Amino acid sequence: MPRTRGPVRPTAPEVHHDLVLEPRDVAFDWTELPLHWIPDEPFATHTINVLHLLLPEGERWFIRVFKEALPLITDDGLREEVLGFIGQESIHAEAHQEVLDHLLAQGLDPRPYVRQIAWLFQRILGEKPHLNARQRRETVIERVAFVAAIEHFTAFLGNWALNSPGLDRAHADPTMVDLLRWHGAEEVEHRSVAFDLMVHLDPGYPRRIRGMLVSGPLLVHLWIRGVRYLLAHDPSLRGRVRPSWRQAQDAARRGLLPDPVQSIRSGLRYLKPGYHPTQEGSSAQALSYLATSPAARAAAR
Ligand SMILES: [Fe+2]
Ligand SMILES: [Fe+2]
Repeated sequence: MPRTRGPVRPTAPEVHHDLVLEPRDVAFDWTELPLHWIPDEPFATHTINVLHLLLPEGERWFIRVFKEALPLITDDGLREEVLGFIGQESIHAEAHQEVLDHLLAQGLDPRPYVRQIAWLFQRILGEKPHLNARQRRETVIERVAFVAAIEHFTAFLGNWALNSPGLDRAHADPTMVDLLRWHGAEEVEHRSVAFDLMVHLDPGYPRRIRGMLVSGPLLVHLWIRGVRYLLAHDPSLRGRVRPSWRQAQDAARRGLLPDPVQSIRSGLRYLKPGYHPTQEGSSAQALSYLATSPAARAAAR
């Protein structure tokens, strides 16, 4: 049966119709991870560490939303992609959770911040069992649109991680760099799934715009709060390093962080009527990294 993804289906440079998403059951050993895993770069380290604060709760929420959406899918191929997406995201959440546990063991307690994130994803954006069937369907599609917008950024960050020689130049911890690139590669690999699911359930442009208008600013807000939190609670800094736009630009110039202006521009590209996630990043590059990633290779053995 031909795939039906609705009218907003621009020509994609890389066709994902035969996308087979394989969850790779990776394992990382964090016992030797230094607190500042980019040496002498606490700002860049903690800016990236915000991923570990947000992703375990965030990706578990993606999974719950997608499980709720499964009965609404009428395309067998897309259902397979969604199941593959769920498998990959559940391993991502666990991998980042282990880093959180390591931060706690190093004297940086992430739990108060993570409790707020859990409240947001579980209570505010969680399932609404008291709604009738029509309202429930509507809230599921609305949340799929939020996930699609967030997945635009996870693919953007994944693409950055795969093209970030600055981390190697700065002698960043190789296990953490592998985690970022393995996860980043899978984000690039499955970057079209949430978007295609949203378009399958509602091809309308307003839904996509609303998803980005809510998720984009929320993500920026949570990220800034996360960086502030980690720098303030880092036992070796005692609040001496304060985050600033200038530091972010300086770290980006040295290839340690994504450029903040490029990140905003990327968010704006999502609003273009002809946008499709396959226009960003390269599946070939992602798969080529996954073929050499130490963690992914160990998982394949
Ligand atoms: Fe992920
Ligand atoms: Fe993802």
